[in-house]
Amino acid sequence: MAYADFIPESWPFSAGTTAVVIILATYFIAYQLSSRKVDPREPTVIVPIIPVVGHILGMASLGGRYIKNLGLRNRNLPIFTLPVPASRIYIVADPSLAAAVQRASKVLSFTPIIPEVTERVLGLDKATMEITRKNLDPGPGEERGFLADIQDMVYAWLGPGDYLGELSLEAAREMRDEIAAYAASSSATSKQPTDLLNWVRHLVTVSTAKYLYGPQNPIALDPKLEGAFWDFDHGLGSLLMNILPSITASRAYAGRERLSAALQAYLEKGLHRTGSKIVQRRVDIATAHGWALPGVAREELSFLFAGIVNATTSTFWLLTQIYADPELLAAVRGEVESILEREGPSDSSSSGGGGGGGRTRLRIADLKDRCPVLAAAYRECLRLGSDTYSTRLVKEDTLLANRYFLKKNAVVQIAGGVIHADRSIWGDDVDTFNYRRFLDRREGGGGSGAGGAKQQGAAPIHPAAFRAFGGGKTLCPGRHFAMHEILAFVALVVLQFDVQPARGGRIEVPRKNDGVLPVHILEPVSPVQVLISKRADGFARDGLDVEFVM
Ligand code: HEM
Ligand SMILES: *[C@@H]1O[C@H](CO)[C@@H](O)[C@H](O)[C@H]1NC(C)=O
Repeated sequence: MAYADFIPESWPFSAGTTAVVIILATYFIAYQLSSRKVDPREPTVIVPIIPVVGHILGMASLGGRYIKNLGLRNRNLPIFTLPVPASRIYIVADPSLAAAVQRASKVLSFTPIIPEVTERVLGLDKATMEITRKNLDPGPGEERGFLADIQDMVYAWLGPGDYLGELSLEAAREMRDEIAAYAASSSATSKQPTDLLNWVRHLVTVSTAKYLYGPQNPIALDPKLEGAFWDFDHGLGSLLMNILPSITASRAYAGRERLSAALQAYLEKGLHRTGSKIVQRRVDIATAHGWALPGVAREELSFLFAGIVNATTSTFWLLTQIYADPELLAAVRGEVESILEREGPSDSSSSGGGGGGGRTRLRIADLKDRCPVLAAAYRECLRLGSDTYSTRLVKEDTLLANRYFLKKNAVVQIAGGVIHADRSIWGDDVDTFNYRRFLDRREGGGGSGAGGAKQQGAAPIHPAAFRAFGGGKTLCPGRHFAMHEILAFVALVVLQFDVQPARGGRIEVPRKNDGVLPVHILEPVSPVQVLISKRADGFARDGLDVEFVM
C-alpha cells in the first residue's frame, strides 16, 4: 500500500506538498519542544538548527570545536543549555561559575562518570566493573571503594613531598639518558629532517615507560608496542563512542589489546616489583580490592597513558615556541645556564656546563623557581593547547550559584577551550602566544590555579580561568610532576641542541587541531619538520654530563 492511499479525496494538496507540510510541522514542534526550559531558572537554551539531535551531530562531526564555537559566539552567556535527546548538557564558560561547579562536588560529581568511561576506553570486564561501582563516592566514615582508595594514594604520593621529588629525579635522569643516547646516535648527525612531535613522542614514551614500569617494561621488551600505544591514543574518542569498537575503532582497539596483553604478562611475571613505588602500590590496591590481573593490566594502561600523552604534546609545543623565537630561546638558555652548578672543585673560569669535563648539577626546583621565562612559556603553551572539558553529572536538581537551575541526570561541562580563548579574561592578544602574560606572577605552585597570571594594568586573572589541569576534585594529580619532567626535558634540549626548520627560514608554529575530541593537549594540524644538531655556539661542546638534584 502506498503512502498516497491514506490521503482523503477532499485533501487539496499533492502527496509531495503534504510530505513537506508534515516535515515542517514536525520540525517546528520539535524545535518548540527542544527550546523549552525545564524550569524558568534554567540557563538560556541554545536550540540546534536540526532539532533534537543537532547538537549531537555537531559534536560528532566537529569534535571539541563545536561547543567551543558555540561558547565563543555566545560570549555574553556565562552558562547555557544544550538540549540533547532525553537530557541536557550545561556548558559553563565563565571562571567564577566554574569555581562554583567545582565547589558543589557533592551534587555535581565526576565520580559516577568514571566507570562508564573506563569500561569503554579500557575494555574492562563485567566482574571488574562491579568492583569499581562499589562504594564509588563514599562519605566520611563510609567504606571506601577501589576508586576512592587509588585516588587518595595517587593524589597524596604525587603531591608535594619526598616521593614527588624521588619520582621527578628518576624521570629527569631517564630522559637525560634517552637524550644522550640520541645525541650519540647517527640520527643526531645525519641532517635528516625530523618530525619534532614524533621525536619528542619517542623519547617521552620510552623514558616514561621505564621510570614508571622499570627496565623490563612491555615497551622496552617490544619496541613495536610504542606504535600500538599511539594507535590507542588516537582512537580514544571512537572507543568512547563504543559502537562495535573492534570495527569502528579497529586500530585503537588492536593497540589497546596488544598493550594490555603485554602488561598482563609483565604483571604475571611480577616485573612491576622492578618498577616505581607508585605503580607497585597501585597494583597492590587493585589486588586488595579483588581485581584480577587482566583488569589490573588495563588499569595500568590508563596510568601509562596519563603519564605520557599530555607530557608529550606539551613538551612539543614548548620546544616549538622556544625555537620559533630566537629572543625567547636566548632568554631560556640564559636562565637555565645560570642555574647550572659545576660539581667538585671548580677549576676553570667558565661557569655552568660550558667547559669540558666534570659533572654539572641541575636542581629541578630551580627550573620552576628561578627560570621565570621558561615557567611562563610552559603555562602559556598549556593555555593555548588545552581545550579541556571538566565534566560533572548532576546528581540532584540543583540551583547553581543560587541562580541557575540544573536538572537531575543532566551533564555539566566546564569549557576550558572557551575560557582559554576569552578576550575579556586574557586580553586582545588572547589568540597569540605571549608568555609575558604569565611573567608578572606570584608564586604559582605548579600550574594549579591560573599560575598567578596577571594582565598588565588589569585585575588579576581568576584562579579557575587556567583550565589545563582541570579543577576541583578532578584537578590533575600529576601537575607538579609534569612541570618538573617537562621543564627538565626542555632544559636538556635547549642546553645541547640547535633546532632549525628543515626547509630553512624560521620555525613556523602550526595551528592546533581542535576538530577532535579533546582527550589531551591538542596536537598541531601539520608536522613541524626540523633539523636537530649540536649547538653551534660551542656550549657543551664536549658533551654535557648533568646530575639532577631536587
Ligand atoms: C602537561 C601535562 C598534563 C596535563 C595538562 C594534565 C591534565 C589533566 C587533566 C585536565 C586531568 C583531569 C581530567 C578530568 O577532569 O577528567 C588529569 C587527570 C589525571 N592526570 Fe594529568 N595531566 C598532565 C600530566 C600528567 C602526568 C605526567 C601524570 C602522571 C604521572 C598525570 C596523571 C593524571 C591522573 C592519574 C589523572 C586522573 C585523576 C583521577 O583519578 O581523577 N597527568 N590530567
Ligand atoms: C590531558 O590534558 C587535557 C587538556 O588539559 C585534559 O582534557 C585531559 O583530561 C588530560 N588527560 C590526561 C590523561 O591527563
